[in-house]
Amino acid sequence: MKLRKVMIIGVGNVGSTTAYTFVNRGICEEIALVDLNKELAYGHAQDLLDAAAYRQNMIKVSLRDSTDCADIDIAIITVTSGLAQKSRAEELAGTSKIVANIVPNMMKNGFKGIFLIATNPCDAITYQVWKLSGLPRHRVIGTGVWLDTVRLRRLLGEKMDIGPQSIDAFIVGEHGDSQFPVWSHSSVYGIQLNQLDKNRIDFQDIGLTAKNKGFEIVKYKHCTEYGISSTITEICQHIFTNSHRALALSCILNGEYGYKDVAIGVPAILNQHGIKKIIELDFSNNEKQLFDNSINIVKNYIAQIN
Ligand SMILES: NC(=O)c1ccc[n+]([C@@H]2O[C@H](COP(=O)([O-])OP(=O)(O)OC[C@H]3O[C@@H](n4cnc5c(N)ncnc54)[C@H](O)[C@@H]3O)[C@@H](O)[C@H]2O)c1
Repeated sequence: MKLRKVMIIGVGNVGSTTAYTFVNRGICEEIALVDLNKELAYGHAQDLLDAAAYRQNMIKVSLRDSTDCADIDIAIITVTSGLAQKSRAEELAGTSKIVANIVPNMMKNGFKGIFLIATNPCDAITYQVWKLSGLPRHRVIGTGVWLDTVRLRRLLGEKMDIGPQSIDAFIVGEHGDSQFPVWSHSSVYGIQLNQLDKNRIDFQDIGLTAKNKGFEIVKYKHCTEYGISSTITEICQHIFTNSHRALALSCILNGEYGYKDVAIGVPAILNQHGIKKIIELDFSNNEKQLFDNSINIVKNYIAQIN
């Protein structure tokens, strides 16, 4: 049996909770932790190993340098320069510098896996990792709007009293202010949402609440970690199981939706090699305008990366 190995680069709130979620879901055999703060990483490793001892399968939690990556299947980027509680855009200068130091050195040291990026601003950093790594685009994935999509589904589920997994609604665009729900394609078993429960649901308000949920959580607990860790774990699980499930992820476009050379949140099918195929939606005129706006915003971030 081939052992599944993930590396988590940045073991702060998001990275450590992701490692804990990996342990509890048993999705891999080794979790390699990387952080500038070696004592923090050591403490998390020891705590995680205690948790892993409750599992039936053997899980190794190792401390590594990011350059020790030749045997890693999925490298997850959750670093930040300490501005995670500010706006996603304000993080760009700091996070892009960290990524510029880490990724080329990993490539020089034989990284052959998939990059999964949660660090913000997620789409711009996903693009930067793709450029710096020289990897084919299917092997560089951003968590993008998958967390926003799941938030939208749970908010709709709460209103409609339907399980979020049965609601086929989703968000596309930037993991940021210009994201938007694609109501023209949202349904439960083919029944358009606005036909199903039009009297009780203020769709505009739900889209806004989903978009702002992260900021609301940060206001109360100074970070978000459980939701995004579940997002990261689910994406890794779909890769490891070759599930071919379609999620709304930050993908590098190469002609899809009429754009190239940019990363943005769109529905895509995941397999063991990463992004198998981007699904192209037939947007309404209004949605097309919102998507174009979102692309321009991400391109503007990308232009600021040196
Ligand atoms: N995509 C999403 O939906 C989503 C959700 C929540 C948070 N985030 C993002 O995730 C990132 C991490 O957030 P957090 O709350 O965990 O931050 P944090 O400050 O708790 O953790 C960041 C960690 O990165 C480490 N680090 C910094 N530079 C490093 C380097 N060069 N090498 C190795 N480690 C380094 C720090 O020591 C720290 O432990 C932020 O960019 C945040 O905005 C994204």
